[in-house]
Amino acid sequence: MEKRGTMRQGEAFLTTRAAAETEYIGAVLGKAMRPPLVVALDGDLGTGKTVLVRGAARALGIKEEISSPTFVLLKIYQGRFPLYHFDFYRLDQAEELAELGFDEYLPGEGLAFVEWAGRFREYLPEKRLDITITRFFDYSGEGRRIHLIPHGVQASQVVELLIETITWRVDGTLNMVPLAPE
Ligand SMILES: Nc1ncnc2c1ncn2[C@@H]1O[C@H](COP(=O)(O)OP(=O)(O)OP(=O)(O)O)[C@@H](O)[C@H]1O
Ligand SMILES: [Mg+2]
Repeated sequence: MEKRGTMRQGEAFLTTRAAAETEYIGAVLGKAMRPPLVVALDGDLGTGKTVLVRGAARALGIKEEISSPTFVLLKIYQGRFPLYHFDFYRLDQAEELAELGFDEYLPGEGLAFVEWAGRFREYLPEKRLDITITRFFDYSGEGRRIHLIPHGVQASQVVELLIETITWRVDGTLNMVPLAPE
């Protein structure tokens, strides 16, 4: 039966109120993920997609600076696992995906994060973790809603682990306990 307005099983909504909190969520995800897994990121310019990937990269022990691969479309980092960071923002044609060797990396042997995934969603594997980030109004301008929708068992387990791991303080800030190194 179709239920409108209710969340599907496995979905999660989080709110963050500072970039550091979104980065922390990314780090927890990075710790929880095992390859191969694809994370499809959506959300307007400047909502925090790259901030989240940066957190995941840190958790994987990647020291390099992480920025949107807007012009190169793909950057590869080597951490505990390979991290493939895609950006579909400037991608115009699906043929360019083949040139990038997209099929090799998705799902491939590493963890893939795809910014602006919605532009070519039909080319992504069905089993993946969809994350949409939206702004919500708060006085600081730093409020973000993070909507996680897992497709498949592996992605669902990652979301479950995330929800089990994170805690909030009474003032509503995220309790960013340092994540144990591997
Ligand atoms: N709660 C928050 N979560 C994430 N980023 C935040 C938050 N509050 C403020 N910010 C700021 O928003 C900006 C997010 O930038 P980021 O590059 O991650 O966006 P993006 O979604 O990757 O954009 P683009 O589509 O241009 O690649 C950063 O400047 C960050 O400091
Ligand atoms: Mg970005």
